[in-house]
Amino acid sequence: MSALRNQVKALGTLLGQTIAEDKGPECLALIESIRLQGKAIDGGDQKALLSLMGKISEGDDETLLTIARAFSQFLNMANIAEQIYTVSDEAQSLIDRPDPFASLQAQFDAKHWHKSDFAKAMASLHIDLVLTAHPTEVTRRTLIHKYREIEAQLRRGADADNERIQELMAQDWHTNSIRRIRPTPVDEASWGLAVIEDSLWTALPLFMRQLDQHAQAITGEPLPLATAPVRMSSWMGGDRDGNPFVTAKLTREVIAMSRAKAAELYGKDLEQLSMELSMMDASPGLIAALPEEHKNSEQPYRELIRPLRKLLAVTREQMEAQARTGKATNTQVPLLENAQELIAPLHLCYHSLMECNLASIARGNLLDVIRRIQCFGVGLIRLDIRQHSERHNDVLSELTQFLGLGDYLNWSEAERQTFLRAELDNRRPLVPADWAPSSDVAEVLDTISVIAQTPAEMMGIYIISMASQPSDVLLVQLLQKACGIRAPLPVAPLFETLEDLDNAEQVMTDLLAMPGYKERSKGHQYVMIGYSDSAKDAGVLAASWAQYRAQDALIKLHQREDLKLTLFHGRGGAIGRGGGPAHGAILSQPPGSVTGGLRVTEQGETIRYKFGMPKLAVRSLSLYASAILEALLAPPPEPKPEWRDLMDSMSEKACKTYRSYVREQPDFVRYFRQGTPEQELAQLPLGSRPAKRKSTGGIESLRAIPWIFAWTQNRLMLPSWLGFGTALEDALQHNAEPLLKDMQAHWPFFRSRLAMMEMVYSKSNAKISALYDAKLVEKELIGMGEDLRNLLTTDISTLLKFLGQSTLLEKDGWGQQSLDVRQSYLVPLHLLQIELLARVRASHDENQVSDCNRALMVSMTGIAAGMRNTG
Ligand code: PGA
Repeated sequence: MSALRNQVKALGTLLGQTIAEDKGPECLALIESIRLQGKAIDGGDQKALLSLMGKISEGDDETLLTIARAFSQFLNMANIAEQIYTVSDEAQSLIDRPDPFASLQAQFDAKHWHKSDFAKAMASLHIDLVLTAHPTEVTRRTLIHKYREIEAQLRRGADADNERIQELMAQDWHTNSIRRIRPTPVDEASWGLAVIEDSLWTALPLFMRQLDQHAQAITGEPLPLATAPVRMSSWMGGDRDGNPFVTAKLTREVIAMSRAKAAELYGKDLEQLSMELSMMDASPGLIAALPEEHKNSEQPYRELIRPLRKLLAVTREQMEAQARTGKATNTQVPLLENAQELIAPLHLCYHSLMECNLASIARGNLLDVIRRIQCFGVGLIRLDIRQHSERHNDVLSELTQFLGLGDYLNWSEAERQTFLRAELDNRRPLVPADWAPSSDVAEVLDTISVIAQTPAEMMGIYIISMASQPSDVLLVQLLQKACGIRAPLPVAPLFETLEDLDNAEQVMTDLLAMPGYKERSKGHQYVMIGYSDSAKDAGVLAASWAQYRAQDALIKLHQREDLKLTLFHGRGGAIGRGGGPAHGAILSQPPGSVTGGLRVTEQGETIRYKFGMPKLAVRSLSLYASAILEALLAPPPEPKPEWRDLMDSMSEKACKTYRSYVREQPDFVRYFRQGTPEQELAQLPLGSRPAKRKSTGGIESLRAIPWIFAWTQNRLMLPSWLGFGTALEDALQHNAEPLLKDMQAHWPFFRSRLAMMEMVYSKSNAKISALYDAKLVEKELIGMGEDLRNLLTTDISTLLKFLGQSTLLEKDGWGQQSLDVRQSYLVPLHLLQIELLARVRASHDENQVSDCNRALMVSMTGIAAGMRNTG
């Protein structure tokens, strides 16, 4: 860890020089003295905290802006140092599973698993990573680019060019770290495509080679050529839930952009392949596939590839034009619509080379290209569509009223189902030609028409937010039919409240029992599990147990019904939003949860941390793959009935405690708004979508991201722990300790909950949170904050007592040290934020570019960078 500290220090010194050059040595001296004071306090000593706070409050707005920028940059530098360190040799000894496949192989040997079981597990290995545009990435892309360059230099070790690093650091310092305007959904989609182009494009073949080597080491056989365990999907430009800027027109543009980008990248790959595959020897199969005039060619491979290059060039040109103008320019020319059009001829090349004893050529660049196409398909990503269930109901409401049938919204669930089922079976068109729906309804229908006009391979699935009834699913199936989609998208209900998760099994049971439903599902059902919103609704413990129970029941139901089920996990980066280490998360799911593949969201900053560089992406893919293989080979145990009972009662207790504050304390919302920067956060233009679904309302209308983000900023981290400790204490008082120990030892689900709680508690800081309250919260509400902080302290001791530890993260040296490295930069940022919030609120300063407001925003992004996520 000393290497990490040294790296952070060295970068800090360089940054210091940049600041001194710009602002003068006195300014640097002030920053340095604040840093040292922050370091000495380390979040603990209240008196020292107050003295530092006093010092900060003396600064004028401009000075505070400079200080905020400095500490925020320090934290970004600390993150760079940590990224480098993560893949260094020293770190490998500290992190869990330095080589995920090697750990898997060791288990394979130790547990005497069978080769054939491994091959079977390999065949079921499916990872569908869904990039979303959730507004949780606080770092501007232009800065990410500079950080990447700095990182590239540092990776060169002794050969690093310090002048270049200094130059990049100056560029960084002189760039505004806060976006001025919100990105559009198109910006977000291009960002997603850039992550693929810059990182996953390189990482995928490397990952596949590793997987292949390990599979060969275990089974003695290379992976079959068609093996394609990874698929990329996206919500960027497709997720319109609460985001009025994602329109049908925009979705069409994003689709065209993705297809153009795919054609461009494949075009480059095929150009290189064509250059390399100059061999003369070819199999009869390959020759047979050539047009008559080229059968005697001396370059048969090039002849086979030539028309593919042409197809890609035309596709690129047409799609670029469509993305620009919104219209297809020439509808007559054939375009790439199906990946098989590329894969089949390349497979032919592969087999021909193998037959001609040219395996090293077949298994080189050609194999990499084949694997890319098999993974990325015709558009690099498959675009999902997500819409809120209410918006679909509104379509039917207007339509049924137009048809003189009454208002769909007033119908009972049974009446809705009867109508929808009859219409699904009806051959007459549902939508009358003379119907002129409202613009909101037209928008929903236009989106479905876009799906109808898009190659099926370009599209993913259709997700319904806040789904709660069978009619929610039938309705979307009906709308797809009504809009004439030949290959309708699979419809996935998203269950995301405690009640809806508890009801999920019943909803799916009812659907599966309906005649025609299974046929319409084409043997494959997707169900999405919402982690954040359920946690916001019921607290993390109750929500995570409800997620577990719902998944478990759905898995068993679909097994009984013999229908493939893919569970789609809507996880955020923070623990309060279902985040946490991927490996632990997968193995803590119920047995059978990955049999139908793993589909999971990757969003915001986690995309950068997990996939931002090829090396990280290879590691993340390997972690996913090894965890899924492990879960397939040795599924986690079925919980014992007494474990379930205890979890039921603990989660009831936890939910009660959570709701007793969040829902039942009349002043809770006031306290939340005053003690956190929730209101001010809405000014940060992080993503294209508004912070709320509706512009009015309280906590329930607030989306889960700002809810968690705000509590992370003041370090109370409330939603991530409230209720857990009370439930644990209660169980212990009821003599459940032996049972809890049994669960800890033998149940990965429970073990991973404990690990997450340790992480959350260690990120919380009661002293810092008290300072927010003291300066920002009305006197009469401070009592609530004190109660909560006392509860936090008690909860931490309860957990420590149960774990038999004296400090948090005692067994996770990495996690603890990573936080320690950041602490001295974080403390001043919190103090600055408190002061700035007080100033902005007192002056009602709405000028977004005033020094004070800018400094406040910098403090928010700086703390988010320091905590490694927005919450
Ligand atoms: P959502 O996601 O608000 O888009 O449903 C919540 C989250 O990821 O935290």
